[in-house]
Amino acid sequence: MIIAVDGPAASGKGTVARALARHYGLPHLDTGLLYRAVAANVRAHDLDPAIEADAVAACDFDERLLTDPSLRDDAVGALASIVSAHPLVRSALFQRQKRFAAQTGGAVLDGRDIATVIAPDADAKLFVKATPQIRARRRHTELAARGDTTSFDRVLADIRVRDTRDSARSTAPLVQAVDAVLLDTSFLSIEASVRRAIELVEAQVRRADVQA
Ligand code: CDP
Repeated sequence: MIIAVDGPAASGKGTVARALARHYGLPHLDTGLLYRAVAANVRAHDLDPAIEADAVAACDFDERLLTDPSLRDDAVGALASIVSAHPLVRSALFQRQKRFAAQTGGAVLDGRDIATVIAPDADAKLFVKATPQIRARRRHTELAARGDTTSFDRVLADIRVRDTRDSARSTAPLVQAVDAVLLDTSFLSIEASVRRAIELVEAQVRRADVQA
């Protein structure tokens, strides 16, 4: 079974995707980490994230980078949103994500374009969202716990900029797939979000069985 989980920054998609992977015993890929690794590589080599050729050169990153905790920094997320808008960066990372989705037994992938581009035939598709204020509060708490002193207002502003950039780009924009179901986590605890996500996946799989 392939499960696609998409949504904006700090919507809860990563938490939901990890929990679904545990629940169904499936491998999980956080595709945002790939774009974050490209961004970190751009920064490490003093390249310009806005120049497509620079960003493409950074796609050939060392695998060990994927486990570097600094990939989670907000500055890296902001850079990731710039490099990920380049079509050639997206195509450089495409096969790797496709292969992960197609592995025997299935997989859970989370990102921005999983249901629309990477795994359009996924068995279940969730679009996870929450209000910008609530997402900013979550991200702010997360960053503060890691000793990052970025203010709430700055985090909220960054989230809005990233939402706009991710949704407005012409290649693989952040958009709910027509056959994806919406999970609004604004007023749900983590446990309730995960319970609801499992119910939604079960319902989609049942519906597909009936139609088959
Ligand atoms: O955790 P958060 O949602 O803040 O970010 P992320 O999922 O790690 O993604 C970082 C950036 O990578 C996003 O702002 C997107 O611009 C980009 N991204 C993308 O374009 N496509 C994906 N499948 C995943 C991430």
